[in-house]
Order: sequence, then C-alpha cells, then structure tokens
Amino acid sequence: MKQTGKFITFEGIDGAGKSTHIPYVVDYLRQHLPSETKVVASREPGGTPLGESLREILLQQNMHLETEALLMFASRREHLAQIIEPALGRGDWVISDRFTDASFAYQGGGRHLSLDKLNVLEQWVHPHLQPDMTLLFDVPLEVARARLDASRALDKFEKEKADFFENTRNEYLRRAAQFPERFRLIDSTQSIADIRLQLNGLLDNLLLKRSV
Ligand code: TYD
Repeated sequence: MKQTGKFITFEGIDGAGKSTHIPYVVDYLRQHLPSETKVVASREPGGTPLGESLREILLQQNMHLETEALLMFASRREHLAQIIEPALGRGDWVISDRFTDASFAYQGGGRHLSLDKLNVLEQWVHPHLQPDMTLLFDVPLEVARARLDASRALDKFEKEKADFFENTRNEYLRRAAQFPERFRLIDSTQSIADIRLQLNGLLDNLLLKRSV
C-alpha cells in the first residue's frame, strides 16, 4: 500500500484567524500520522529564502497590480520547486498558510485583476497540482478589522479599505462554491474550541483517505 502526502492550504481575509489554528492543525497531524510521515508547515508569499525576500517587498512596497500578481506567482513557483513538490513526492504532508486562492481573492477580487490572467498564471505555475483540502476561515469584515486593529503594525494589505476586503472575501466565497470538493468553510466567529472540533473532523476524514 503506497502512502501519499496531502496538501492542505489555509485561506481567509486578514484577521480571519487562520494563524491561530495552523499550529493546532500541524500538532494534530503530527500526533495522528505514523511517526515516519513528516508534516511540513510553510507560507506564501514566502516559504523559501527567495520567497521571503519577495514577501518583504510585496508586503511593504506599492507596485503595479500585475507586478504584484507576477511576484506572488514567482514566489509560488520557487515554493513549489523547493518545498511543496519534493515534500509531497516523499510522502510528507504539506500545510501552506495561503496559496493560489489568495491570488484570486486579493489580486482578482480585491484589486480587480482579470481572472483570465490569473488563470493563465495558475496554468503556467501549477497546471497539475491543487490542494487536497483548502480551509477557508470566514468572518464578517467588522470582526476581522477589530482583530487586526488589536494586534500589531499593519502591512500594506492590512491597511486597505473595507470594500477591498469585502471584494476579497466575496471572491473567496465564490471560489469555495466553485470548488466544493476541496474547500471547507469554517465560520471563524465560533469559539476556538468549536473550530478545533470542526478541524478534528475534517482532518480525521483526510487521514482516513491517506492510503491508496
Ligand atoms: P498573511 O498571510 O496574512 O500573513 P500575516 O498573518 O503575517 O499578515 O499575509 C500575507 C498577505 O499577502 C495577505 O494580506 C494576503 C496577501 N497575499 C496576496 O495578496 N496574494 C497572494 O497570492 C498571497 C499568497 C498573499
């Protein structure tokens, strides 16, 4: 029986709470997978030395919308080549804090870059790979803003206006409806304990499916 790695992505608007739950999911998987199966946790933009340099630029500097999209996918290309594809090839599980759905939601929904152009980039950079499961942490805008304001200095995206986040959130929800086989919606207004219960169920299902 061949063991295959799984690819799980975390998505949601800034302040939706995904950062709270990623360490929990990583620990849960490490406890429930056989000891020889590694869990690799990474993020986008970033995940490699070059990707982290691009992240600095992307989160701080203003630039043309298409430059922003291209740099997001440049970071992703490197992340796939250096981290994601080798890990999945070894049978590791990969958790990524954001992936291509974020480009559709932020650059497409938030900034109105044409979805056709984003589709071209996706086809170029990963024509054959999609996450096995995408956890979309969804909250109303006001809740997300309140969480952000309470946290720390805001980056370029976090300083955007309310309609940017409304459009970003709507594009995430549209994609969740378009790809129901991989998206799982998490109502992030729930308590942390309730969200963990939901996560346990979703992860248990994926763990059951890991052998082919
Ligand atoms: P985020 O993942 O929210 O990290 P932190 O919690 O440290 O702020 O920050 C990444 C930002 O980059 C976020 O505002 C969304 C944005 N982003 C895009 O606009 N497009 C993308 O393709 C990706 C991966 C991220």
